[in-house]
Amino acid sequence: MQEYFQPTMADYKYATLAVHAGQYPDPQTGAVNVPIYATSTFELNGIGSDKGWDYSRGGNPTRDRLEEALTALEGGKNAHVFGSGMAAIMALIAPLHTGDHLICSHNVYGGTTRLLDKVIVNYGIQVEYVDLTDLDALKEAIKPNTKLVHVETPTNPLMQLTDIAAVAEIAHAGGAEVSVDNTFLSPALQSPLALGADIVMHSTTKFLNGHSDGLGGVLVGAKAEHRERFHLIQKAMGGILSPFESFLILRGIKTLPLRMKQHDANGRALAEFLSTHPKVQKTFYPGLSSHPQHELAARQQKGFGSMITLELGSREAVGRFLGAIKIFLNAESLGGVESLASHSATSTHAALTEERRLEIGITQGLVRLSVGIEDKDDLIADLSQALDAV
Ligand SMILES: Cc1ncc(COP(=O)(O)O)c(C=O)c1O
Repeated sequence: MQEYFQPTMADYKYATLAVHAGQYPDPQTGAVNVPIYATSTFELNGIGSDKGWDYSRGGNPTRDRLEEALTALEGGKNAHVFGSGMAAIMALIAPLHTGDHLICSHNVYGGTTRLLDKVIVNYGIQVEYVDLTDLDALKEAIKPNTKLVHVETPTNPLMQLTDIAAVAEIAHAGGAEVSVDNTFLSPALQSPLALGADIVMHSTTKFLNGHSDGLGGVLVGAKAEHRERFHLIQKAMGGILSPFESFLILRGIKTLPLRMKQHDANGRALAEFLSTHPKVQKTFYPGLSSHPQHELAARQQKGFGSMITLELGSREAVGRFLGAIKIFLNAESLGGVESLASHSATSTHAALTEERRLEIGITQGLVRLSVGIEDKDDLIADLSQALDAV
């Protein structure tokens, strides 16, 4: 079988890496695209000897290629993919022990809060939510048993940022690792490992797949030891990604840099339009100079992305807006080529009580936009006519 060169960030620029990392031809057949190895098991050479794979929970050639690609795109040492973003977050936490302390950014995707508050809390792991924009609060919260600080930046849906490098310095001084949920920007627009994080997590369901046709999640580790840790979780807990969905993400990744350019350009144009619209009380977008952390966004990110959140004042106003949009679809999720809009309080953050939502700033008047790659003029016209109905 032919050996193929496996490029890393040191070899190529990003757009080249996206097309080629992990995506070299099939050594057996020369197929240019990574084949979907639809098999649960593999014939062995003899007792205790295999051809590289034995059973697809432990490893599958299609999944391995996706893991190679994601390792290269995030500049890590290894990657492990799971059946959804939530399964990846579970895999991140599963190696913790009873009595360990976990610090989580106070403002995260509602599903992460649901996992921590309804499942992990029963395992005797101490979960503490900290406002990670306040570095003194983080210093105070770190304890000798703190094992992990989990960051989401920008946050869903309020677009608050955390200074990854500063958090990593504090966490490392306290002996804890830092994981970053990089879902909102994708590896094309933010590289947490280069900023000092230890693990990057994605819901690949979003920008990495990019076409809203499959769920998935990944953990990319900066250290060689993460391979053993997360491969064990794949094998022992079994929440792995199927070969078919691995293929879909591999296909999506090839156009990630191209898509992100368009997402980013559209995001900037729509945020500018919305920020001066009389029906919009507030526009949350780190690319706006009025965003309180605009300077951090410009320093830490390679773009501002296409996630924009609006305050329309009331649930009724959001209802009228969602009823009037035509190109934008009223649907949960984000990061696909098509533009979506969703009411955060009853979708992504439905798992929180109203009191907790208000505590972190999620009002009934918020609507979150995931701006797609359609023509920006059409998108602005759609938002304009929908806001007229508010
Ligand atoms: C920031 C973020 N992290 C994690 C998840 C969970 O991912 P999944 O839906 O693939 O389980 C989501 C889903 O919306 C998300 O927005």
